[in-house]
Amino acid sequence: MRIRQYTKDDYPAVRDLWERTGLLLSLSDEREELHRMLDYHPELFLVGELPNQIIGSVIGSFDGRRAYVHHLAVDPDYQGRGYGTRLMEHLEEKLEVMNVVKYHLLIEQCNADVAGFYRKLGWYERDDLVMMSKNLRTDDRSSC
Ligand SMILES: CC(C)(COP(=O)(O)OP(=O)(O)OC[C@H]1O[C@@H](n2cnc3c(N)ncnc32)[C@H](O)[C@@H]1OP(=O)(O)O)[C@@H](O)C(=O)NCCC(=O)NCCS
Repeated sequence: MRIRQYTKDDYPAVRDLWERTGLLLSLSDEREELHRMLDYHPELFLVGELPNQIIGSVIGSFDGRRAYVHHLAVDPDYQGRGYGTRLMEHLEEKLEVMNVVKYHLLIEQCNADVAGFYRKLGWYERDDLVMMSKNLRTDDRSSC
């Protein structure tokens, strides 16, 4: 698998990947909304590809204080081969170059088992925090 930066032409394939891996998608995943991210740190939006096929993705973001991981996904046909690990390691190398102190990710309750994957990569769960959200442009409170 070759890992490279996402380009706008990748949208249909990446969207298809996300739908097939069962990620919970929202307004922020519509084409124009998603591409707003490219105005900030486009080098943190990564795809993994085999010849002619995108099989993985991960989006990093950095607000100057903390970094975040979104939409790590590996095509179901290619899971369990270390590709998810490689995507995370590649992103982490980029965050280290940016001197990021700490990064966060969120897991939906219905996908809680995936925490096992992240634990293997050194992540730990927080029971000292409560996540809160406020919608500014949508009433969507969807969760799985
Ligand atoms: C999570 C995901 C990206 C992992 O990708 P992958 O390529 O299969 O992962 P790897 O092959 O690198 O797995 C590394 C290790 O984590 C384990 N692992 C993978 N998925 C796991 C899961 N859902 N739960 C627990 N452990 C998991 C693997 O068994 C492997 O363990 P091993 O080293 O002992 O063999 C992939 O399962 C996926 O796309 N899931 C659906 C989307 C998703 O839930 N994304 C995360 C949103 S927070």
